[in-house]
Amino acid sequence: MTSPLRLGIAGLGTVGSGVVRIVQTHADLLAARAGRPVTISAVSARTRDKDRGVPLDAYEWEDDAVALARRDDVDVLVELMGGSDGPAKAATEAALAAGKDVVTANKALLAIHGQALAEAAEAQGRVIRFEAAVAGGIPVIKALTEGLAGNAMTRVMGVMNGTCNYILTRMENAGLTYAEAFAEADGLGYLEADPELDVGGIDAGHKLALLAAIAFGTQVDFGAVELEGIGAITIDDIVQAADMGYKIKLLGVAQMTGRGLEQRMSPCLVPDTSPLGQLQGGTNMVVLEGDAVGQIVLRGAGAGSGPTASAVMGDVIDLARGVRMPTFGQPATSLRKARAARAAVPAPYYLRMQLVDKPGALAKVARVLGEAGISIDRMRQYGHQDTSAPVLIVTHKTTRGALDEALAAFAATGVVEGAPVAIRIEAV
Ligand code: NAP
Ligand code: HSE
Repeated sequence: MTSPLRLGIAGLGTVGSGVVRIVQTHADLLAARAGRPVTISAVSARTRDKDRGVPLDAYEWEDDAVALARRDDVDVLVELMGGSDGPAKAATEAALAAGKDVVTANKALLAIHGQALAEAAEAQGRVIRFEAAVAGGIPVIKALTEGLAGNAMTRVMGVMNGTCNYILTRMENAGLTYAEAFAEADGLGYLEADPELDVGGIDAGHKLALLAAIAFGTQVDFGAVELEGIGAITIDDIVQAADMGYKIKLLGVAQMTGRGLEQRMSPCLVPDTSPLGQLQGGTNMVVLEGDAVGQIVLRGAGAGSGPTASAVMGDVIDLARGVRMPTFGQPATSLRKARAARAAVPAPYYLRMQLVDKPGALAKVARVLGEAGISIDRMRQYGHQDTSAPVLIVTHKTTRGALDEALAAFAATGVVEGAPVAIRIEAV
């Protein structure tokens, strides 16, 4: 048998311990599939004596992930520490400089530094693989870079943060408020150490930026992703959306338009009968659209020790087999800088506002919309709450620019209480 592929694993938390477990329990299967053994030479984490549920005595220990990355007995750095900078970036750069490939689950690192790291890898004749960074166990990077490589991609979209989908579906199914569903997710350990990464759409935005780069052959540009989290969604929105045949999802959409690359991660209404509308709990779904294939839908666990380690090992086996894909599916120097287009594709919107109970109030709202060039498709007023009533409006297709103009003008009407909620209705 040929020489083993020797791993250095930096990070032994949820994902790292899952990777160690697969290497230990599936040694024969991995060797048979890869054509050579896959072994672990050394590991690193912050605390040496923690019980991680897997035996680590057979491996060398490094306190410093950079030292691990530089070891002569490590062929591949498996970076599972997390964070866009700090030790994850330093160890990745050290591994590439030392002529080693890198496998990582770190979407934050690649969403921010992906282009520079991909160029550094190529300058060294090395590769960075990151299947686990997007939608956990779903092999979406492989689908885009291999199975769909013959397509010009037209749109990629998906629900890529399981925590947000869990919160929204608990509000929907159990009638919980946002705060109650958030607390439940927290109790189950779903939230990131900084919950804003989840509920603010940042984690999912990182994933969307990575998918967009591969799909459209562009330099990864997380700064151009329009981000809006789920914190403003109320149980009223969920109920009223359901009443009209929709579900609310934190949906990422990337699409190349005549004005540039549009990347959005925001709450959207999707038809309740669509695959995205039916997605429950912490599960992820990615929808890929290509000019030849049409639409394909991938669904599965977006997080967790086993699913994420599964994706890491898919990349490791590719490297053991000698399959060496450029980081973003084509040489980094050939990736174009995309012009960012803000919400270029028009769509219908759902609006919820609290309207004071005065003669002519609805007429004033309708006038503002008309002056912004927005046509009303449907309108509903619910029962009065003291001196005001909730009003729902579904518009015909309009641009985000026109909608923002109307939203700004509502304040001056004197009949709209507080800030209206505006949610895009996505054609999926
Ligand atoms: P985690 O459970 O918090 O584990 C992080 C590990 O990194 C721990 O073992 C920690 O050491 C180690 N570490 C942190 N800072 C370090 C440092 N300065 N030097 C050395 N080691 C350090 O995180 P995780 O959930 O496994 O996530 C790892 C990566 O996978 C992240 O990039 C995350 O975004 C990504 N990811 C996670 C999931 C998931 O389901 N968890 C899914 C997809 C992607 P100690 O244990 O000693 O503290
Ligand atoms: N916080 C992420 C989620 C973990 O909820 O999907 C996986 O990236």
